[in-house]
Amino acid sequence: MIPLAIPDLSGNEARYLQECIATGFVSSVGPFVGRFEQAVAQAAGAPLAVATCSGTAGLHVALVALGVQRDDLVLLPSLTFIASANAIAYCGAEPWLVDVDPSSWNLDVALLEQLLQQECVRQGDRLLHRASGRRVAALLPVYTLGLPADMQRIVSLARQWQLPVVADAAAALGSAWQGVAVGALGADLTVFSFNGNKTVTCGGGGAVLGGNAALLQRVRHLATTARQGDAYDHDQIGFNYRMTNLQAAVGCAQLQRLDDFVAAKRRLRARYNAAFAGLRAQMLPFPEPEGYLSACWFSGGLLHTHDPAAMQRLLQRLQGEGVAARPFWKPIHLQQPYRQAPRSRQSVSEALWYRILTLPCSTALTEQEQEQVITAVQRCLT
Ligand SMILES: Cc1ncc(COP(=O)(O)O)c(C=O)c1O
Repeated sequence: MIPLAIPDLSGNEARYLQECIATGFVSSVGPFVGRFEQAVAQAAGAPLAVATCSGTAGLHVALVALGVQRDDLVLLPSLTFIASANAIAYCGAEPWLVDVDPSSWNLDVALLEQLLQQECVRQGDRLLHRASGRRVAALLPVYTLGLPADMQRIVSLARQWQLPVVADAAAALGSAWQGVAVGALGADLTVFSFNGNKTVTCGGGGAVLGGNAALLQRVRHLATTARQGDAYDHDQIGFNYRMTNLQAAVGCAQLQRLDDFVAAKRRLRARYNAAFAGLRAQMLPFPEPEGYLSACWFSGGLLHTHDPAAMQRLLQRLQGEGVAARPFWKPIHLQQPYRQAPRSRQSVSEALWYRILTLPCSTALTEQEQEQVITAVQRCLT
């Protein structure tokens, strides 16, 4: 079976891990954590980074640091991984789910603007959701499949409405817009995941990036149980969200190869797109609008079908051909815990989600293996 996305750990990972064991630095204190933070900040074009134990933890602590509180609303696209919404719920807040743009699969900014104009009202320094009276506390754009959202317009709206922005860039390390790296697109905080299926992995892990030193210090403090000094003094309810030296050791080795990994991911995407050009009546390529450079976390295609069962049938056939293909995110408003969450119209996310096919895209996938996947897809779709 050709797997969907497995890590390539053939660089310095084992050597760095051995160093952790030899020196005894296996927990959150250790030299690799600081090295990892510097390397990830540099790779993402942001001045500062705080490493966390997961991307979800990074999102949660970022929202807390920016003041999201119980009963607040946070605007985000419904087409995302459930962790984006969960991080909001962990604050006691609720996701306000916006539809996505069909040309990018990212937050529909025109719709966002309409929601702010038509459904919100400013009261002093607070922005309120008119119907419920609840505070709208932040924007959380997601970089779907690693493609950055339209941050120029989102940041401009955020300034206009005085809302902080946390970018969920979980899978977007290595992406850019107009040559600007993904950590420098104007969000107050940008969050990455280094989960096992990401282009760069720590086994598990995350990072919160930004340029405001006081804000990043608040993130670090909250992620370190809000501890003051060494005498078990804590000034608020914090979290044990630190990354370990072991995770960071793997991450440091992985980051050394980021450029090669992204190049491999982009090559895989280009090959799939070229090979499936003759199948355009059955499947479209993933979006990459002009001016954007995606790190191409996953590759695959968008099936032309109105039948949600068609994907299941295709996945089973591909499985039979030795290809571990998978569907993609089910929108948040269709998930059990968020059925009651406020939302905009969702015609695009509902028309998209069950049609997105992800195909094997490990950075070390060989040309021969990719050829096998391509042949299998062609056989199944024609
Ligand atoms: C968009 C998005 N947000 C958040 C996360 C959560 O990251 P983690 O698995 O590191 O907690 C993921 C991970 O897959 C993701 O894809």
